[in-house]
Amino acid sequence: MSEAFDAFERAAWDSNDASAYEALFGPITSQVVEPLLDAVRAGRGSRVLDVATGPGYVAGRAAARGATVTGLDRSAQMLAIARARHPAVTFVEGNAEALDFPAASFDAAVASFCLLHLASPERAAAELARVVVPGGRVAVTVWNTPDRARLMGVVPESARAAGAIEPADLPAGPAFFRFADDAEMRRLLTGAGLHDAEVLTIEWRTWIPSLEHLWRGFADGTARTRALLAAQPADVQARIRGELAHALEPYREGDAYSVPVSVKLGAATRR
Ligand SMILES: C[S@@+](CC[C@H](N)C(=O)[O-])C[C@H]1O[C@@H](n2cnc3c(N)ncnc32)[C@H](O)[C@@H]1O
Repeated sequence: MSEAFDAFERAAWDSNDASAYEALFGPITSQVVEPLLDAVRAGRGSRVLDVATGPGYVAGRAAARGATVTGLDRSAQMLAIARARHPAVTFVEGNAEALDFPAASFDAAVASFCLLHLASPERAAAELARVVVPGGRVAVTVWNTPDRARLMGVVPESARAAGAIEPADLPAGPAFFRFADDAEMRRLLTGAGLHDAEVLTIEWRTWIPSLEHLWRGFADGTARTRALLAAQPADVQARIRGELAHALEPYREGDAYSVPVSVKLGAATRR
């Protein structure tokens, strides 16, 4: 499973529409940046590594705190956006599962909404732990389960309800919500040799201006869900949109929607 999935994810993040990712997910993933940086005590003079930086939301805010920041991603298009946005930050191409830095190079390492895109989250957690100094901090975020993170539930649930069939060539990926479980998150961090593992739940409602805005974000700006939606014939896509309209109805406010989001933040210290 892992090689095919890894190759799929790599291609997906270089070929999807990064502007669609930014339009939908940027304002949402940015909400957890400050708690994430607080969890690793990022501040003036600290050396911070932001793994899977994407457009550089975390890296940019860490730099604004006065940290010396390195942002890392595997996608050339994401790195191009991040560099244009944050010229003062160093961005490098690299793989979360095999970081090209010596041990103990950073005071803190973070990876926000990265784990579900990896064939081996355990390897990535071990790498995050390896590159921080003893006493250094590691923190990660993942989506909470879709009953709480409705944002992440409504599209796949609508696809299932509409009878969407997964394309045969879509490689099996790791369980999307595995680390939403607090015990599983703690196990990941302690298994990487970290201690004092703690898990926070961060919840809020995000403003979605239209069904079309949500659809574009998922259909153009993601990896697995984009592949699922793209493989459906027009009539199934139309049925999914119908189901989505129904699924969003409880969150309607006028012409827009106020949709629950829920995130797990795991943090721990290197021995
Ligand atoms: C969902 S985005 C998260 C971006 C950003 N951290 C945020 O909070 O919005 C996932 C990012 O992980 C990157 N990525 C996926 N697999 C990776 C890997 N193995 N190593 C490094 N980056 C990876 C993608 O290119 C993409 O930019």
